Amino acid sequence: MRIAILGFGSVGRGIAQIIAEKNLGLTITAIADSKSGCMDSTGIDPLEIIKRKEDTGLCGEKGITAEYIIQNAEYDALVEVTPTNAETAEPSLGYIRLALSEGRHVVTSNKGPIALNYNELKELAEENGICLKFEATVCGAIPIIQTLQYGLAGNRVKKLYGIFNGTCNYILTRMADEKLTYKEALLEARELGYAEADPTYDVEGIDAAIKLVILANTIFGINKRLEDVEITGINSLTSQALELAEEDELTIRLIGEINNEKGTLKVSPRVIPKDHTLVVHDTLNAVTIDTDLAGEITLIGKGAGSIETASAIISDLLFISNCHDRGP
Ligand code: HSE
Repeated sequence: MRIAILGFGSVGRGIAQIIAEKNLGLTITAIADSKSGCMDSTGIDPLEIIKRKEDTGLCGEKGITAEYIIQNAEYDALVEVTPTNAETAEPSLGYIRLALSEGRHVVTSNKGPIALNYNELKELAEENGICLKFEATVCGAIPIIQTLQYGLAGNRVKKLYGIFNGTCNYILTRMADEKLTYKEALLEARELGYAEADPTYDVEGIDAAIKLVILANTIFGINKRLEDVEITGINSLTSQALELAEEDELTIRLIGEINNEKGTLKVSPRVIPKDHTLVVHDTLNAVTIDTDLAGEITLIGKGAGSIETASAIISDLLFISNCHDRGP
């Protein structure tokens, strides 16, 4: 399968790295970052472009734009991994609409278009007989969408709650374990490529809230917008609050919750016992799914990171090439 990648930051480079290292039947024929692009219908050497990006800050030539690639490159699936814009979803929304209209599959890690325009994009994909996949938008490497859509098919999910933001979890862990200040821990999370391009999305709880909206709209079919989520972030949490909790064998985690029975969505820091299942460390996410048939299932895994998020993108691409393109 030939793929075009839009966005060559942490996730885009992770995808290129995996394709270079593993023989997965995926060929990159085009790549664009925010300032440049490159195309080759016979296949691009991913490692060469990663090096070029490191050396020059660009992945290709300045005249080649994302729109140009969508309309002129030879590819079967567009991989859209540009930064999230939670207000307008642009420019990603326009890229995805264009690629779907051109009859190309789309795989994205971009939360904006899925949170804001899922129904429209899904219809467009269906009209064109192609796939729109977005596993990487929620909980990084954890296959939560796949689990909810297929693994738990036939179950009614009563409630779903847990840790949806790797950056906040990393910050809380580093503050509690290493006594870093909030600012020091946030700086580390940014340097390690975990935080969003705009890290206020992480620390103010917006990123976790967007992920709840995505699950609410795509899996539960309860149409929600970001404004419907009750949100409190960790940005005003002090080291003293964490220390006080630690004295009583408690700790603080940013917990997101969908109550499917009441139709409510909420994100807030909560004090929980240190030995609770949801007290995971560093960039781990942990989500408990409470269902009528299977009971409770908890998924734990890396919620952020270059290769980890790329893992979810690769899984979507292989799902399309193995299941969709070859028929049922
Ligand atoms: N910034 C996000 C997080 C990346 O820290 O969870 C994955 O969505």
